[in-house]
Amino acid sequence: MYKQLTEDFHQLYQTNEPVRVFFAPGRVNLIGEHTDYNGGHVFPCALTVGTYAIVRQRTDRQVRMYSKNFEDIGVIHFHLDDITYDKKHDWANYPKGVIRIMQQRNLNIEYGFDVLFFGNIPNGAGLSSSASIELATAVLANELGQLNVSMIELVKISQQAENEFIGVSCGIMDQFAIGMGQKDQAVLLNSDTLSYTYSPVKLQNEALIITNTNKRRGLADSKYNERRQQCEQALAELQTVVNITSLGDLTVEQFEQHKDAIKDDVRRKRAEHAVYENHRTQEAVTKLKQGDIAAFGKLMNDSHKSLRDLYEVTGKELDALVEAAWAVEGVIGSRMTGAGFGGCTITIVEKDKVEPFKAQVGKQYEDATGLKADFYEVEIGDGARELVLNHS
Ligand code: GLA
Repeated sequence: MYKQLTEDFHQLYQTNEPVRVFFAPGRVNLIGEHTDYNGGHVFPCALTVGTYAIVRQRTDRQVRMYSKNFEDIGVIHFHLDDITYDKKHDWANYPKGVIRIMQQRNLNIEYGFDVLFFGNIPNGAGLSSSASIELATAVLANELGQLNVSMIELVKISQQAENEFIGVSCGIMDQFAIGMGQKDQAVLLNSDTLSYTYSPVKLQNEALIITNTNKRRGLADSKYNERRQQCEQALAELQTVVNITSLGDLTVEQFEQHKDAIKDDVRRKRAEHAVYENHRTQEAVTKLKQGDIAAFGKLMNDSHKSLRDLYEVTGKELDALVEAAWAVEGVIGSRMTGAGFGGCTITIVEKDKVEPFKAQVGKQYEDATGLKADFYEVEIGDGARELVLNHS
């Protein structure tokens, strides 16, 4: 993969100089949705698809960036001493944001660079292509500048770039999974304390399948910010009766005892999802460790129902895919994954039922929505890193 990209780099920037190659994966969340900004748990993993960055350091402070995924936009130029959000720079605002936040944290990026990006995460699928390019940038800037910043700090820098430079109030899950992911493991993260543990996802007889609705995630960002505000308000109401710092602090019993402090039905539903989903996630990881895949799958189904009925972030397409999956023999569990309003589902299905699953769900989905679904088998990969090249 990177040999071709290196040739592309040399041609684009008219040079033969050696390059360095970095990679940051995409992510998929197995369970624990819309809990990360509520102080709860998430259980994502890094994928083997992601963003490649081919880079050469410069001797001045200019930066040039190009993405093979957005060829029409062409090469984007800027100077390290003048980094501002620019609508025309489109995708490049993500890497620009990361560099800007590094500078704000007094990390001295002395020299500029030329970079060519290429991502093989399916477009707009909600598998975190934006967090992927953020981490690819953070890691390359850290390595080129010999800044010695730890991965967890690069994760926080990337999240801050998305919150402050891009203006999406996302939690830390995506950047964390992409920075800290490990091959064949999912990571249980407590988003309040940032403590985490890895769990092997070794399915013997089952496959993990991502299904893409191919529905553009229209109003997702504004709805996302709205959900976040509703939860913050519900928390403030609960804090008048119970001493907590986040919804993630509540047990299910405490929530049931105090929920009447939330004065609005919609906000109560949002908080109910956040509290129950947090507990469901921890229980699911326990079941997985015990090898009880059936129980894990059932909790995935419950997660989807809660996201559909209480959090209201699924929509017709995600529901059509998941409900079709539930009806297929051999499906152990299926749910939407990521922010919702389009994007992908994640399903555990018995290995010998994968083909009938694809056929049945694909057909039913097309009949219901007029859209074609895409299916990808999940391979769990390592987090963001430099790729070591064979210099021949
Ligand atoms: C998006 C955000 C994450 C998380 C999920 C929902 O992917 O970037 O921080 O909140 O939605 O679980």
